[in-house]
Amino acid sequence: MVPLQSATRLWFLSYRWGRVGLMRAIVIEDKQLTWAVVADPEVRAGEVIVDVTASAVNRADVLQRQGHYPPPEGAPDYPGLECSGVISAVGPGVTGHHVGERVCALLAGGGYAERVAVPVGQLLPVPAGLSLVEAATLPEVACTVWSNVVDRDRLRPGETLLVHGGGSGIGTFAVQLGVALGAKVLTTARAGKHDRLRALGAELTIDYRTDDFVRAVQAHTGGRGADVILDIVGAKYLAGNVAALAPDGRITVIGMQGGAVAELDLGRLMAKRGRVSSTSLRARPPADKARVVAGVRDQVWPLIAAGLVKPVVHRTFPMAEAAAAQELMESSDHFGKIVLLT
Ligand SMILES: NC(=O)c1ccc[n+]([C@@H]2O[C@H](COP(=O)([O-])OP(=O)(O)OC[C@H]3O[C@@H](n4cnc5c(N)ncnc54)[C@H](OP(=O)(O)O)[C@@H]3O)[C@@H](O)[C@H]2O)c1
Repeated sequence: MVPLQSATRLWFLSYRWGRVGLMRAIVIEDKQLTWAVVADPEVRAGEVIVDVTASAVNRADVLQRQGHYPPPEGAPDYPGLECSGVISAVGPGVTGHHVGERVCALLAGGGYAERVAVPVGQLLPVPAGLSLVEAATLPEVACTVWSNVVDRDRLRPGETLLVHGGGSGIGTFAVQLGVALGAKVLTTARAGKHDRLRALGAELTIDYRTDDFVRAVQAHTGGRGADVILDIVGAKYLAGNVAALAPDGRITVIGMQGGAVAELDLGRLMAKRGRVSSTSLRARPPADKARVVAGVRDQVWPLIAAGLVKPVVHRTFPMAEAAAAQELMESSDHFGKIVLLT
């Protein structure tokens, strides 16, 4: 990463040797976001360079800015876990992709930039009928939700899916995917988001601020509970999730907004033959990410093409205003995804 102060030197080197390509990216310094001049990414074997049109904001980017979520080894320092754009260079050994192709991509970082290097296994086509802005909102949420709810937890038609934080980027996608797969979807969110969640297909919306979600889920399911629970809250909801779980149910924790350490009543879980697991998409090795991306392309992209799952874009910002975009995310006043445009 090359901070703003070095920009003049970089321009000089670029002029002198014509070798150092330059771009702008969001650089994190002292927990602040700056749209700075930095060196271009290099294209390596098995990768392409994508000229970024749009990148969506994820809660993880906020944590990275705050210093709580460093990028994995080998990933760019700049935030941004997904993007859309156009391929501008193809690395050695790459087949099946070409310069000028419109794509979206799952990233380990670096989406808040004008260009990013992407392993080909993490590229997805722009779904038919969608703009590049809409496509930028899909890779991270589609891969996260599909890999947990479908690939691991095997949600089946007719089962009940409980999605915590339905109004989030993850939640708005999970609600729609659950409905598209024939599940009954219940969700927690603050009251102001309930109408929009019902419009996405949720059959029960629970205001987690005023209502006990365990009681609400049990009442709605006739005491049976939810077969699959996708949880972004963590410790604070662990006991409640076990209480709200159906026999043979599956809980997957993907967020720790309510803490990381909790007590688990194994007796209660065992009696239900329940399972609790937890995953992180960003930390998966590239081959594993490529497998997830392939699953999403095969199983989720057709649902998007059919209009059964739609991107939910709350608002766009110019990339240079990434700080304001993250401030909006921290307020939780958004519904769905916030998008940054280069
Ligand atoms: N493990 C992984 O691989 C992975 C991948 C992607 C995302 N995630 C996690 O998924 C979560 C959502 O990410 P995002 O980018 O979609 O974030 P986001 O749009 O900012 O959403 C955060 C949501 O949390 C909800 N929330 C806060 N406290 C809650 C509570 N007690 N009960 C129910 N909902 C509550 C908020 O709901 P209201 O606005 O209704 O208050 C808000 O919608 C984050 O925790 C993120 O770290 C994990």
